[in-house]
Amino acid sequence: MLIQFLVLFSAAISCQASLDSIGFDEWSSKSGNLQQQESEAASASAGACKATFAQGTLDLSPLDSADKPRFKNFAKVQIMGISYNLSFNPCSPFDCGVIATDSICATGNLMTYGMGEQNSSRIEGQPPSSLRLRYKGSSQLPLKPILSTVRLVCNATEDGRISNVVLTDGGNYNLTFDLHSRYCCLTPSPSGGNTGWSPGDVIVLLFCLSVALYILVSMLINGLVRRRSGADLLPNGQFWCHLALLIKDGFEFSFKTIRSCLCKGRENYSKI
Ligand SMILES: *[C@@H]1O[C@H](CO)[C@@H](O)[C@H](O)[C@H]1NC(C)=O
Ligand SMILES: *[C@@H]1O[C@H](CO)[C@@H](O)[C@H](O)[C@H]1NC(C)=O
Ligand SMILES: *[C@@H]1O[C@H](CO)[C@@H](O)[C@H](O)[C@H]1NC(C)=O
Ligand SMILES: *[C@@H]1O[C@H](CO)[C@@H](O)[C@H](O)[C@H]1NC(C)=O
Repeated sequence: MLIQFLVLFSAAISCQASLDSIGFDEWSSKSGNLQQQESEAASASAGACKATFAQGTLDLSPLDSADKPRFKNFAKVQIMGISYNLSFNPCSPFDCGVIATDSICATGNLMTYGMGEQNSSRIEGQPPSSLRLRYKGSSQLPLKPILSTVRLVCNATEDGRISNVVLTDGGNYNLTFDLHSRYCCLTPSPSGGNTGWSPGDVIVLLFCLSVALYILVSMLINGLVRRRSGADLLPNGQFWCHLALLIKDGFEFSFKTIRSCLCKGRENYSKI
């Protein structure tokens, strides 16, 4: 029985070795690095309204409303003395008259301004408390760039509310407002970074477990049903016997080589 356990044990060791040699460890740490790179990129720029940070994930998409603004006419602002209604959709542009590329629009009786082009959208700031969405407006008409900043305020009890709307007219038109929502809160990442198991690890583990199970069950069947003993207990006993002989030959060869080297050394030593 001892021999069989030794075989199982060495199978486990070789499985562990194959895990290392095939490079699954490297592979999993690489995918970990990839995640990290993604999060850095996402914090600097995100065309969509999702970002991953070390502290968790930001996902504003439940706040979005396809093709129409989720927040319609939420405030009035004055541009060159004329009053405009603001509308906002956090993740996708909507049709606000002649303009259909912006996620923030200022709509008046005669004019419409694109206040935040969706493809210019960036998630910025230091999580968790000072995250912002930034946009450049598509409209060139005020003859100054339009910059919009949406401060993301995490409030677990609110679906979506906008406050503190301010438009300043200086070197640029700067529009800022606060978006209060549970979706402005970071969701902790499910796996704690690199400690998680990669799919490759799981596959190799399952493979090794099934090999071990196969050997164990075969041994049980061979022993209990076919009433065999010794090396015949093992599945494909012939094959394992050959393998054992090969290994024995290999060891003998290297042992002889090492011994001949050592003895030669000793001869030389005694001559001196
Ligand atoms: C602005 O919004 C108000 C109420 O939300 C609405 O009555 C008004 O017609 C809107 N004006 C324009 C130009 O869309
Ligand atoms: C966004 O798209 C418009 C055309 O739809 C293009 O003119 C503009 O350069 C794009 N901006 C960015 C930042 O990609
Ligand atoms: C969250 O929203 C509720 C309801 O609007 C408000 O009463 C509360 O003060 C807010 N909490 C924070 C931390 O802003
Ligand atoms: C508008 O925002 C930009 C960038 O944040 C800033 O450099 C500029 O001073 C702001 N202008 C005004 C008038 O607030």
